[in-house]
Amino acid sequence: MLSNLKQQPQDKIMELMTQFRAETRPEKVDLGVGIYKNAKGETPVMRAVKKAEKMLWEAETTKKYTGLVGEKDFHDAMIGLVLGDVVPRNRIAAAHTPGGTGAIHTIVELIQSATPDATIWISDPSWPNHPSIVDHLGMARKSYRYFDNETRAVDFDAMMADLGDLKPGDVVLLHGCCHNPTGANLNITQWQKLAALIKTKGAIPFIDIAYQGFGDGLEEDAAGVRLIASEFDEVLIAASCSKNFGIYRERTGVVLIVTPDEATQTLAQINLAHLNRQNFSFPPDHGARLVTMILNDPELKADWMAELEEVRLGMLDLRRQLAAELQKQSGSNRFGFVAEHRGMFSRMGASEEQVLKMRSDNAIYMVNDSRINIAGLNKESVPLLAKAMIEAGC
Ligand code: LMR
Repeated sequence: MLSNLKQQPQDKIMELMTQFRAETRPEKVDLGVGIYKNAKGETPVMRAVKKAEKMLWEAETTKKYTGLVGEKDFHDAMIGLVLGDVVPRNRIAAAHTPGGTGAIHTIVELIQSATPDATIWISDPSWPNHPSIVDHLGMARKSYRYFDNETRAVDFDAMMADLGDLKPGDVVLLHGCCHNPTGANLNITQWQKLAALIKTKGAIPFIDIAYQGFGDGLEEDAAGVRLIASEFDEVLIAASCSKNFGIYRERTGVVLIVTPDEATQTLAQINLAHLNRQNFSFPPDHGARLVTMILNDPELKADWMAELEEVRLGMLDLRRQLAAELQKQSGSNRFGFVAEHRGMFSRMGASEEQVLKMRSDNAIYMVNDSRINIAGLNKESVPLLAKAMIEAGC
């Protein structure tokens, strides 16, 4: 039986992680996988998370199962974080899933159950797991242009032109903020125009928000998803706590489904519970419990927000340093986009050949499409990257 299995394409981000681990040059720089690192290259447990863990260890009296879709307190806390109060609670179905990836997977399965013939539209480029989950589940997909490789900004006209071909019932997958891999984001006017187009076409928005708080701030980063949620009867949302709570390995994500009315909310809720039961039964609890404690305790929440803001400002500072260094070393303004992008990533616009040259000549590891993880940089590696880029002919 097992010999019938097919080879599977390796995820390029996971492959790069393996290559980086095997690299022996001590000066190696990891700009690959999206994990936050501080100036010492560490990914510390956030202060509020550590405090909540201690409190939980002392207070927890049982490890019996939670609800199939996780705990309502967690859903409510995440609804508050992502959506604020723009949608009445009785119109939102929710399920806790293992990570944001679990949430995306569940949503694609939900689409499949409801409208198996729908096409899911994904930005070109996007996080590689987006198209691969859609393919894995056998749904149809199409791409819409998103990024202008010349200006390194959103190619909004091209995006709108491609989405002009949406059919009623199609689903449009959008990045809530901090677009991965490009770092180029929609402004609020563009969100409004996009919402109007999707609505006219009778399509459904599907928003993946995995970096809330890493771009312009917690509230600011939720502006797009809140605008969409307040304007549509049906919205599919996958949110991740991996990055903004720094609990990557605790696999904490949530599905939020905005529905038109309470009857549909009940139906969606039943289907989410069914999908969890088929896929893994009960979601992992630890991370969600910490998130709930932090978001419901004013002191923990204030400390978490303060540390998240330090993280965000640190990345913004690195962006400015890199843009300034590239300007200095290249004698041109063509890298100004680095300071304009937001979130953890920027697509630098280097060719694959240039990326591989930097990997072999300088032990600098970025994804082959020239996505860099800004948080992988520090004061010392900023000039090294700038030099390597100029030498590679970027
Ligand atoms: C990334 O894009 O690097 C992160 O989202 C980690 C992952 O799972 O790919």
